[in-house]
This record gives sequence, C-alpha cells and structure tokens, in this order.
Amino acid sequence: MTLDLFDDLPRETREAREPLGPGAFVLPGFALPFVDELLPAIDALQQRAPFRHLVTPGGFTMSVALTNCGALGWTSDRRGYRYSPTDPDTGQPWPAMSDAFLRLAREAASAAGFDGFVPDACLVNRYAPGARLSLHQDKDERDYGAPIVSVSLGMPAIFLFGGLARGDKAVRVPLRHGDVVVWGGEDRLRYHGVLPLKEEPHPLLGAQRINLTFRKAG
Ligand code: SIN
Ligand code: FE2
Repeated sequence: MTLDLFDDLPRETREAREPLGPGAFVLPGFALPFVDELLPAIDALQQRAPFRHLVTPGGFTMSVALTNCGALGWTSDRRGYRYSPTDPDTGQPWPAMSDAFLRLAREAASAAGFDGFVPDACLVNRYAPGARLSLHQDKDERDYGAPIVSVSLGMPAIFLFGGLARGDKAVRVPLRHGDVVVWGGEDRLRYHGVLPLKEEPHPLLGAQRINLTFRKAG
C-alpha cells in the first residue's frame, strides 16, 4: 500500500478520503477551513499551558514539545505515561477545548465513518526542525471504541503508519498544513510515528509543525 501514486496529481484531483486501512483515512486539507480559528486558540492555550519537553519513563527527553487542552491531558514522567485532569507544571486544570477544535474533531471523524465522536483530550505537539516521534501505539486511553483524529499544521512531515505489531512495515504518508488523519475501528492500535522534520518554513507558522491529536481518553 502506497500513496506515492498520488504524489504527481494536483490535490484537487486526489480523492477526498485516502484509505490507509479499513478504519484509517487521510483527509487532505480537511482542516483548512478551520485554520483561522485554530491558530488564535493554540496561541491562547500555550500562554496558559506552555509547551514542554517531557521525559519518558525510560529517561529520554522527547524532541517534540507538547501541551494539552480538554478535560484530560496526556503526560509522561519517570513513573510512566498517563492522562491527568491537571497540568503537572501549573497544578491547574488544562484549558478547555475551544469550540472550533471540537467541531473539527467531530466533522473529521464523521468524514472517516466515525459518527458521534466527542473527544475529552487534545494533545498538542510542536515539532521544530529535526524533531521526530518514534513508532508507538496510542493505548493509554480507557477504551479503544473511539478513533484518533490527528490534524497537521505548519511545516510538512512524513507520517509513518505501520501495522499492529511494532516490526510491521510502515507506509510513509506525506502530510501538509491542513491535512487530517483519522484511525479507528480495527486500525485503532496501528503503530505510527513521524520522521525527523526537515526545515521547510511555513508561511503562517514559520519553522514549526503543530499537530493536534484528539482522543476520547477517559
Ligand atoms: C502523535 O502520534 O501523537 C502525533 C502524530 C503526528 O504528529 O502526526
Ligand atoms: Fe500517537
């Protein structure tokens, strides 16, 4: 399975929904109509809950910086990964998810066949050039009935979408500003990651990539 066949086509002639599996789809440009609302919301969020580089249970500092909004936020330290209702840096609840975030998450999930998605957690990842995310499963959520909705903003990236076992071959999916990936159902536990980012500054966001991942965590 490869998306390379589509690379030479103008985006308008690509299918609106590119399958990565029976329950996994790329929705090219799906978030573009939301960007004007998303960027100020991310700005306000990071003032209240600043981006930070977490340490993994194995003692590595992540190259990706992150923060959260919503009732629950994903966090990590030497004791493990978990969802927390409060920001461990400030002791305060995570900022609420803005209406535009919730609408985008619900509409993207529906477009991929998952109606009624109401996320309670939004992890916001910030990648500088060189930052990467190694292959992992999203499996700290309480149940896997809801999909993951992942929104790309800013610099382009190569997303790796693997199988249900760590060693399975991963396809390389180029993601650009405004693209959304949704995976759920039998694809909910697919391994995924992001290759080290090249420095290709984006007109609106400069030399960074912001990724929003919406989850139903609690
Ligand atoms: C994630 O797996 O949490 C983020 C994926 C991405 O940045 O595209
Ligand atoms: Fe993930």
